[in-house]
Amino acid sequence: MSAWTGAGRRIAGRRIAGRRIHIQEVGLRDGLQAECRFVPTADKIALADLLSGAGLAKLEVSSFVSPKAVPVLADAADVFAGIARAPGVVYSALVPNVRGAERAVAAGVGEMNLVMSASESHNLSNLRMTRAQSFAGLADVAALARRHGIAVNVSLSCSFGCPMEGDVPQQDVMDWCARFVDELGVQGITLCDTTGMAYPTQVHALTEAVRARWPGIELTLHFHNTRGMGLANVLAAIDAGADRFDASLGGIGGCPYAPGATGNVCTEEVVHALQLMGYDTGVDLARLLQAAVRLQDLVGHDVPSQIVKAGRRLDLHPRPAA
Ligand code: COA
Ligand code: ZN
Repeated sequence: MSAWTGAGRRIAGRRIAGRRIHIQEVGLRDGLQAECRFVPTADKIALADLLSGAGLAKLEVSSFVSPKAVPVLADAADVFAGIARAPGVVYSALVPNVRGAERAVAAGVGEMNLVMSASESHNLSNLRMTRAQSFAGLADVAALARRHGIAVNVSLSCSFGCPMEGDVPQQDVMDWCARFVDELGVQGITLCDTTGMAYPTQVHALTEAVRARWPGIELTLHFHNTRGMGLANVLAAIDAGADRFDASLGGIGGCPYAPGATGNVCTEEVVHALQLMGYDTGVDLARLLQAAVRLQDLVGHDVPSQIVKAGRRLDLHPRPAA
């Protein structure tokens, strides 16, 4: 460990060394749903198993949405049937409605990730419902999950801005969190920066406010690197007390044919940076990189990952012969 990551190292008065940061892989869902190519089920299963063994806290394995809406994830049940379940890893899936929840129960998911948007326009365009309609539907999903003893997380899209409405007031986000946490008893909330509009000071303020009001919930931050602020936002959130992040292997996501669309913050970039700083991510970076290289073959194109391109900081090159 270098002098910079020594035991007493602090940023803004907070201890770093050994502080646990949980990394949750969403590449199999958020990443692959944006790919145009269908990745064969056996390859998805092999990739999930490789990632399980790399020390990630949670894997979002797939989504139980309409197979017509997202055909590349139509094999969700088969993927769940094929994966090994490593102890300590939570196997989550995105669930949009009761129909999806029933399929998720049958598949044996460890957690249901429910989605709605903090912005009315985005909710209408993505889910074709008002936010009030979404909330009513998700209340039924949460009740179904509870009857089956399955954990529920709610992902609030556009918590940091909407591509149609612009700024989303912090109070709106807090109010929707309150409805899920206080009314429905949901234990996990993810604040999603769906289109990469978040910036560090904003992230700090919202994270601090949610942490202060609901210190007991499992809070996740979900950033996309659309405008190059992904890693800066992760660090700002950590500084405000967050300890859980979604990230996607290789930084995949965003349809290659949609201009400006980009993936989540890249798992190996986040892990690489946090480990250098002395945080404990629990992740085996070498193993993660093996998975990222393999991912390139599966999706059929280069991935955005800077670590795949440049190597780790201390992957040294030979000196020129004297
Ligand atoms: N699982 C399987 N099939 C589903 C389903 C689910 N969870 N939800 C809906 N369907 C089916 C419907 O039964 C219908 O089938 P049919 O045409 O054979 O009758 C078909 O999908 C189309 O339904 P749709 O017209 O979209 O209306 P809906 O209100 O039933 O479904 C959504 C709305 C939002 C659930 C659906 O459009 C969807 O899953 N979209 C994907 C959202 C997504 O993944 N976004 C990205 C992540 S945030
Ligand atoms: Zn996302």
